[in-house]
Amino acid sequence: MARKIKAGALVSGGGSNLQAIIDACSDNRIAAQIVFTGSDTPGAGGLDRARAAGIDTFAVDYKKIIRQARQNPESLVLPDDFDLDRTRAQQNLIPESAGEEKISFFLKTRAAAEKALLDHILPYKIDLLILAGFMRTLTPYFIDRINGTNGDQKIMNIHPALLPAFPGTDGYGDTFRYGCKVGGCTVHFIDYGEDTGPIVGQKAFQIEDHDTLETVKKKGLALEWQLYPECIDKFARERSA
Ligand code: GRF
Repeated sequence: MARKIKAGALVSGGGSNLQAIIDACSDNRIAAQIVFTGSDTPGAGGLDRARAAGIDTFAVDYKKIIRQARQNPESLVLPDDFDLDRTRAQQNLIPESAGEEKISFFLKTRAAAEKALLDHILPYKIDLLILAGFMRTLTPYFIDRINGTNGDQKIMNIHPALLPAFPGTDGYGDTFRYGCKVGGCTVHFIDYGEDTGPIVGQKAFQIEDHDTLETVKKKGLALEWQLYPECIDKFARERSA
């Protein structure tokens, strides 16, 4: 087996993808080990799955940070190395038409939360950060600090649609409601946009006339659990080749 890479994971929800990856690691099916799992949501079920596997966990309460900033903007502590103008020029998450105030509030609150994530993450010196149902976009401030300056792509995400079709938060719902006859899932690297980064792998399934949103989600998730470990293993093998 190739040298195992050190990976960290971020989750927001139940963590069934995380579980599939943990299982693939512990069965030595993939050349990786998960060294921490973090969340934007303190009660996320994925954190329990990680703890049950003996993996370090942490949470950064995004909702709380955003709420406090709304109530008392002065209380928001920005990272020393955060440059609002630079991040604003780099980002491709919110259109300029959203307006100065909205964009600034978004980037500042996210940078504050991301700094707290980075304080947990960076000491682990990971090779790869795995987003496994992490329902927050990440700003260029965070992405640059994980990827470093060598042009490496180190943040992977799984998306519940065949990108570039149906970016956003409800890939299976959007696929189903559009009337698609094929659905699927995509693993991609994160860039400065939403679900726009380079594609690592995809799997597709047929949508039959008798399928419902429920069965579409079920078919999709089952493929996600195969695809994500495969893509992580591909990444690990390429790194250690
Ligand atoms: C998955 O459908 C994934 O594609 C999307 O969020 C969902 C997470 O599910 N990004 P789980 O928490 O891994 O069960």
